[in-house]
Amino acid sequence: MIMATLFVRRLKMIEGCRKIPFRGHKDFRGNLVFVEGGQDIPFNISRVYYIYDVPFGASRAGHAHKELDSILVPLSGAFDVILDDGESREKIEMRSPNEGILIPRMIWRELENFTSGAVCLALASDPYDEEDYFRDYQDFLNALGK
Ligand code: TYD
Repeated sequence: MIMATLFVRRLKMIEGCRKIPFRGHKDFRGNLVFVEGGQDIPFNISRVYYIYDVPFGASRAGHAHKELDSILVPLSGAFDVILDDGESREKIEMRSPNEGILIPRMIWRELENFTSGAVCLALASDPYDEEDYFRDYQDFLNALGK
């Protein structure tokens, strides 16, 4: 029964999205995690930004990108990522700084349920360009031909 449940969950994963475990080093001094663009993640890193001090109950993102690929990492604390490819939606819990979630272009994402003090690191394949955004969900669906 448990196996069947896991299998169904895997089938539901939004295409192109996946959790990526990072390499690191652990010793008596603590933990160190490293991410190399083009090696640990499937794009070169053009931009880094981070989100913190998110008030209780607030949501972030609520957009898709036309060309940009990104990885989100809960550096501290936890949050949930809603992924939407225009056909199905999935909520992914991000709880560990040892892994990121790959969100490719043309996937709608929303971030919610930030824990107190959570920090979301974003690694992006391109510099900031407002023209690359779909900020309206219907525009996103139209672009997908839905
Ligand atoms: P916004 O895209 O709304 O953040 P979220 O990821 O929660 O949707 O970004 C908020 C503002 O910051 C918006 O005016 C665009 C600006 N911004 C930049 O100037 N550079 C950046 O790299 C990012 C991510 C945002």
